[in-house]
Amino acid sequence: MPVYSVSNVEDLRICVVMVGLPARGKSLIATKIVRYLSWLSIKAKCFNVGTYRRLQTIHPSASFFEPDNTEGEKLRREAAVLATKDMIRWFEEENGVVGILDATNSTVERRNWILQICREEGLEPMFVESWCDDDEIIMHNIIEVKTRSPDYEGQDPEQSVRDFRERIRNYEKVYQTLDDESLTYCKIINVGAQVIINRIQTYMESRIVYFLTNLHIRPRAIWLSRHGESMFNLSGQIGGDSDLSPRGRMYAEQLPELVRQSVGDAPLTVWTSTLKRTQQTASKLPYPKLAWKALDELDSGVCDGMTYEEIEEQYPEDFKARDDNKYEYRYPGGESYRDLVIRLEPIIMQLERQENILIVTHQAVLRCIYAYFMNVSQDQSPWMEVPLHTLIKLTPRAYGTEVTRIKANIPAVSTFRQKGSSAKHDATPQTTAELHLSL
Ligand code: ATP
Ligand code: F6P
Repeated sequence: MPVYSVSNVEDLRICVVMVGLPARGKSLIATKIVRYLSWLSIKAKCFNVGTYRRLQTIHPSASFFEPDNTEGEKLRREAAVLATKDMIRWFEEENGVVGILDATNSTVERRNWILQICREEGLEPMFVESWCDDDEIIMHNIIEVKTRSPDYEGQDPEQSVRDFRERIRNYEKVYQTLDDESLTYCKIINVGAQVIINRIQTYMESRIVYFLTNLHIRPRAIWLSRHGESMFNLSGQIGGDSDLSPRGRMYAEQLPELVRQSVGDAPLTVWTSTLKRTQQTASKLPYPKLAWKALDELDSGVCDGMTYEEIEEQYPEDFKARDDNKYEYRYPGGESYRDLVIRLEPIIMQLERQENILIVTHQAVLRCIYAYFMNVSQDQSPWMEVPLHTLIKLTPRAYGTEVTRIKANIPAVSTFRQKGSSAKHDATPQTTAELHLSL
């Protein structure tokens, strides 16, 4: 029996069909939709037709994409068929909810073929077009992304740029923008300068559209830090609203310089939670600040203020249940990691809109935000080790997020708890989860 996530309240299966000329950011948009929905526990996957085409044609020149190249057209169609078949199999065998067909899908004929498949398979088609005539953006995309594509591996970069521009011209000869008012679509023009939506009806579709309208590609970074060591960290108590320890205050003193070295003179806004320990940590930072209730630490309900040892003694079944499934476990009267992700969704949406932001927050919250950017699974994210007194810089790139860790030279206890342990301060583990932070 299909197990749909709570978020798929409508019991729908949506096929998102990307549309656009080459180098319009379709793959980037598709991967971001998948990452966002997966983070929200909505089963999503991208099927990139280019990857299937490369199975038979590894280094095609522009002429392969000429509309009257019948052999090229045949191979491209075969790749689209393979990708579509895999997508349908995925919907059926893995109970997929949102499948994305990532290709140019640039003609009405090709889109009608996909519509026909959607009708046969009971999928809701939703078209997402990226339309862009800003030559500077297109040139930047070609140089930054396309010349590094496997299509041009080992080739002269200047020749690759010329060839890719020629490829685009070939697509332009037959390209038809979306204008059929009977279709469900979202057309993003010049990276969101204008967005046209048509027949968006379901909750899931409107959620995807809302996400898309918040995306931008201006260069920026996001810095994450936990608060400095707190008095509760020293005593091994969870939750609460304690002050910083003396070493935590030292971190607050050192943080402005650590941040300045990484941010330079660029503008920055600092977000904290409403709890004292994050506000005290950010107090010396010379930037505008905003305190968000949504950034408060995971609510540990009846266990708030207890040590892990006390929880194990007083609530042994809960202690075990949490180890068995840390993501789903909800403290009595409190929250689970899943609850926290839902609470953090507006933060993620705002983060997508913003430029440079430093977030000073808490262990569980930081894990969830980090999991969004780094695509960390729900099995792993609650177990990631996020040390105190460490600044993490996330730089979004075309195909992923680059991570840099900057450690302050101020010791702090480890608040990481290994599965099964109730030790006050576990030794720093060497888990795979920790490796995510070192990428
Ligand atoms: P192709 O059809 O060749 O696969 P594509 O349209 O999938 O190309 P991407 O590979 O996703 O293009 O291109 C990534 C680049 O597009 C990045 O440099 C990114 O900054 C940029 N980009 C992201 N969103 C947009 C957008 N809405 N319009 C134009 N460029 C964008
Ligand atoms: O120990 C610090 C702390 O921020 C607690 O307040 C919070 O309950 C805990 O970390 C979250 O980490 P975990 O989910 O691993 O218990």
